[in-house]
Amino acid sequence: MYISVALDGPAGAGKSTIAKRAAKELDYIYVDTGALYRTIGLAASRKGVEPVASKEVNNLLDEIKVDLTFNENGDQAVLLNGEDVSGLIRTPEASMMASKISAIPSVRAYLLDLQRNMAKTHNVIMDGRDIGTVVLPNAQIKIFLTASPEARATRRYKELCEKGMDVKYEDILQDVITRDYNDSHRETAPLKPADDSILVDTTELDFEQSVQKIISIIKENI
Ligand code: DC
Repeated sequence: MYISVALDGPAGAGKSTIAKRAAKELDYIYVDTGALYRTIGLAASRKGVEPVASKEVNNLLDEIKVDLTFNENGDQAVLLNGEDVSGLIRTPEASMMASKISAIPSVRAYLLDLQRNMAKTHNVIMDGRDIGTVVLPNAQIKIFLTASPEARATRRYKELCEKGMDVKYEDILQDVITRDYNDSHRETAPLKPADDSILVDTTELDFEQSVQKIISIIKENI
């Protein structure tokens, strides 16, 4: 029997960095499901397909193959038709495209088995928006990680600046607010805490404190 930790929450709450570290310490696999939506967004951009429910999107899903792989350090790579696109999906444009494409029910259905199969074969910390509510409703541990929009925008801004990207804080904050709205107002699998999830607010916590909080919640509940 494998352990599943569902880690949901809005963009920029620190889910990925915190979960990656926690997964390493616990020897679990960290699964970043946002990368899957970003990859489908990239496939749509490349083909000039609009991110709205349509026959074109469904045809695109029939044509592409999305895979997750993990190296010996447990780091995830996402493949689009065999091409490693892990770096290409990390731009603000890709974020916005992912937010739009993830509202399409056929896209969400397409990714469901891939995500569930990961949890059937590994101990996982799975990071997303609907992991505790839809993908893994029977996860032993459900955590909803959040922080204020300003704290989240500041973190993302620093992250992108460190990567040498020329971005404005105000644009990032606006992106965070728009994505929160899109993610929590869509009809299919909106972002919301599962009834049985534990709420963790990282606005006032630094990275180490957040990691230790998540690890202690996991240890207390397995
Ligand atoms: O976590 P992220 O920022 O990489 O996610 C990119 C987009 O994908 C985000 O706008 C919400 C969406 N997403 C989703 O709808 N469901 C998930 N399980 C993961 C991400």
